[in-house]
Amino acid sequence: MNTLLSLLSARANWAGVVAIALTLAGSHALAEGRGAQIFQSQCASCHGNEGIALKTPILHGQEPAYIVRSLMAFKHGGRIDQIMMSMNGIASGLTEEDIGSVARYLAGQDPCDIDIKIDYGREGFREAFSAGREKYASSNCGHCHESFHHFAPRIIGQKASYLKLALSQFQAGVRVAPMMPRMLQSWTEEDFENVVTYISGMRLMRACDSEY
Ligand code: HEC
Ligand code: HEC
Repeated sequence: MNTLLSLLSARANWAGVVAIALTLAGSHALAEGRGAQIFQSQCASCHGNEGIALKTPILHGQEPAYIVRSLMAFKHGGRIDQIMMSMNGIASGLTEEDIGSVARYLAGQDPCDIDIKIDYGREGFREAFSAGREKYASSNCGHCHESFHHFAPRIIGQKASYLKLALSQFQAGVRVAPMMPRMLQSWTEEDFENVVTYISGMRLMRACDSEY
């Protein structure tokens, strides 16, 4: 900001520059505040800790452009909420400005604040985790999901129940995502279980406090 100020000050008077800088900083803070307020009043019951037992995705730390795209798809009917039949109505009630604000707010939140307990010590966890890691690697999932390629969302550390559901929706073709269904056709029940155990178990990677 200092550089910006000094650059601009060569051409404009100080009062004008300071006014612009204050407006920029102010609108940014306002948008963040608006995003937080929308999330607390309209979304937290399903996407925050109160909704932990629901099959809803964690949105904390998600790519903001993916959040915007998903909300626009729910708003315009390109994606149908198969689980609770509520996202379409909720997204329709948000303006594009609201969507931008809530996406920016969520992108800045720490996914570790979502209080997921994973029983890493349970029987079979290690075996499922390793088999899932291999399947994830050989299927090249990280190519898109760890680089935001094709607007692929972050899935590492996502909630197991939601991952399972999303994968079964792609497999059945009820959620349309051109990149996803084909590669899942040959998967067995066990492959799904293992990959979900791996991806959700990678909460460890996020360095969240865990009972490991
Ligand atoms: C009544 C519960 C409920 C409320 C309230 C709710 N959601 Fe959702 N949301 C869901 C469910 C269920 C899904 C998954 C739907 C599906 O995949 O079929 C979802 C999916 C999403 C997705 C897609 C994420 C992904 O990983 O694909 C976004 C983004 C989202 N919600 C944002 C919001 C925002 C922002 C609000 C508040 C303005 C909100 N939701 C309020 C239940 C809710
Ligand atoms: C060619 C790129 C690509 C590859 C490879 C890929 N995905 Fe995806 N995946 C996507 C895109 C794009 C979406 C978002 C679809 C949408 O917007 O609804 C997605 C969505 C998902 C979702 C839903 C996440 C959410 O928040 O709703 C899951 C789970 C998922 N992929 C798992 C996988 C797994 C497991 C693999 C490996 C077998 C994989 N993906 C490989 C592009 C890819």
